[in-house]
Amino acid sequence: MRYLIFTDIHGNLESYLALHKLIQRRKIDHYIFLGDLVGYGASPNEIIQKIRSLKPLSIIRGNHDKAVCGLDSVQTFNPIAASAIHWTADHIKKNNLDFLRRLKTGPQIIHKEIMICHGAPFDEDHYIFGEFDAAEAFEHINTPICFFGHTHFPFVYTEKDHLVDGTFMTGNSNEIKIEKGVKYLINPGALGQPRDRSPLAACAIYDSKARKVKFYRMEYDIEEAQRKILKEGLPSPLAERLSLGI
Ligand SMILES: [Fe+2]
Repeated sequence: MRYLIFTDIHGNLESYLALHKLIQRRKIDHYIFLGDLVGYGASPNEIIQKIRSLKPLSIIRGNHDKAVCGLDSVQTFNPIAASAIHWTADHIKKNNLDFLRRLKTGPQIIHKEIMICHGAPFDEDHYIFGEFDAAEAFEHINTPICFFGHTHFPFVYTEKDHLVDGTFMTGNSNEIKIEKGVKYLINPGALGQPRDRSPLAACAIYDSKARKVKFYRMEYDIEEAQRKILKEGLPSPLAERLSLGI
């Protein structure tokens, strides 16, 4: 099986269009989305429709999805993120809001071998930002691989014989081999708002037969995404950060 793993689109339609081009060139059996369809970007309705039309095998909620549909308060968000949450809540169609409200909570188990979560397996809102967080997460993972999002950094943590290691996956087309006897905690990077100082949209493909995960970075029409953000009156730093990858 070939699984496309992606996360943190944040209402960025233009980044999705780059993903769509990749999908057309690759054989994908299943789509797995790790949360944050909306928030920050200017195309929440379009993104929800596009992702639904992919008929993902599994899709879980992110903290922004929860806040937009009122399942969580915006108190934990910084003022710019909170203002995007309010804008999104004001502009989202009712059927899309209902869809967000019904999204599952992570972690979920897929085909007995993949765990997925937005933040961490023990707390959907927790950021895994280093080996210490990863070690805690591994205690809650009972599958060979867990995919997570939320940090917007493409990263691979491994655990073998109680040793935890982390690798930042820079660049396009990097690949890792899934070894027996090793547990993996993998973030494909953010599709719609990368924060690793590369503005390129990120995703990954897991090939369960070849036992490989390949990381992709894709150019997309950042200027158009920025133009829409500014046109809608969303805070200008949300447009600026896209071209900086922060
Ligand atoms: Fe996010």
